[in-house]
Amino acid sequence: MSILEQLAQLRSEAEAEIRAASADKLNDLRLKLFSRKNGSLNAILRGLGGLSAEERPKVGSLANEVKAHLEGLLNERLEQLKNSVMEVRLQSEKIDVTMPGHWQNPGRIHILNQALDRIKDTFKSLGYSVVQGPEVETDYYNFEALNIPANHPSREMWDSFFLREGLLMRSHTSPMQVHIMEKYDPPVRVIVPGKCYRRDAVDSTHFWEFHQVEGLLVDKNVTFSDLKGTLDLFARRMGGHQRKTRFNPSYFPFTEPSAEVMVDCFVCNGKGCRVCKNSGWIEIMGAGMVHPKVLKGVGYDPERYTGFAFGMGVERIAMLSCGIADIRLLFEGDARFSRQF
Ligand code: DAH
Repeated sequence: MSILEQLAQLRSEAEAEIRAASADKLNDLRLKLFSRKNGSLNAILRGLGGLSAEERPKVGSLANEVKAHLEGLLNERLEQLKNSVMEVRLQSEKIDVTMPGHWQNPGRIHILNQALDRIKDTFKSLGYSVVQGPEVETDYYNFEALNIPANHPSREMWDSFFLREGLLMRSHTSPMQVHIMEKYDPPVRVIVPGKCYRRDAVDSTHFWEFHQVEGLLVDKNVTFSDLKGTLDLFARRMGGHQRKTRFNPSYFPFTEPSAEVMVDCFVCNGKGCRVCKNSGWIEIMGAGMVHPKVLKGVGYDPERYTGFAFGMGVERIAMLSCGIADIRLLFEGDARFSRQF
């Protein structure tokens, strides 16, 4: 066979091999064809020496052409194989964006905590610190130090869970007034959010466990107008700028004078409806000027310092603002309920 024929044969055989080659065979094939030492092309060209001067350039240029042609085919094949691998991956990893997603069932901040957060934010912006205290109290802090001696008829306002001798579950957050004043010199300005417990019969507005936020401010020259201004601002921050407050005379042993703080009903704007029982007003907390006896008891001089205190029920505030009629819903932990707010 002449060299020209050999080249033509190499060309057609190699074409077939390249077309059929898999990705891992391509490199071997490249070596088999073009390796300097034992590649098929060079093996053929070794016969060049026996050719005449006219034939050599012809064979040389054909050899170059065959080489370029086959290299082109090898590269093409490589590209083609790469693409098909990609194609297979794309097919197998294809995402059907029309499939339904996985429902993550997200939680929500409980409305009690939502209300608490708003109360805390309001007082923090007025410079109050937030402190917490123990849920198990002594008779002294829960009653005695708050000017509620044993056998005082007002103890009936706080029907408590008693533990062993002298201890009880706190029935309000007011005992923290005493703890704070014992620990810090005036001026003090704190709120105390926390859980309280009472032996109340459970109904739509009573539960044996509930939350209060206590407030206490003691300084020189604190007056009842400061109390009114503070709580009026609180009511407007919570219920909108148009809210009005009213202070009705009331009685608590640890404040004198004492008041029941009312806001105009935010459902009917004071016209009278079911929520405000047609009175136009809703009671939101108890408050008053700290009783001189309480101040004296913690070692504050009532001639130099005066202060005000207030206490509100968080459940009541949360229920009013979300239109919830039964307090028990707040304690059932049913996510379907919480998710609505
Ligand atoms: N501790 C009272 C209660 O649980 C609420 C209260 C009334 C707190 C008047 C106060 C206050 O600080 O001044 O019913």
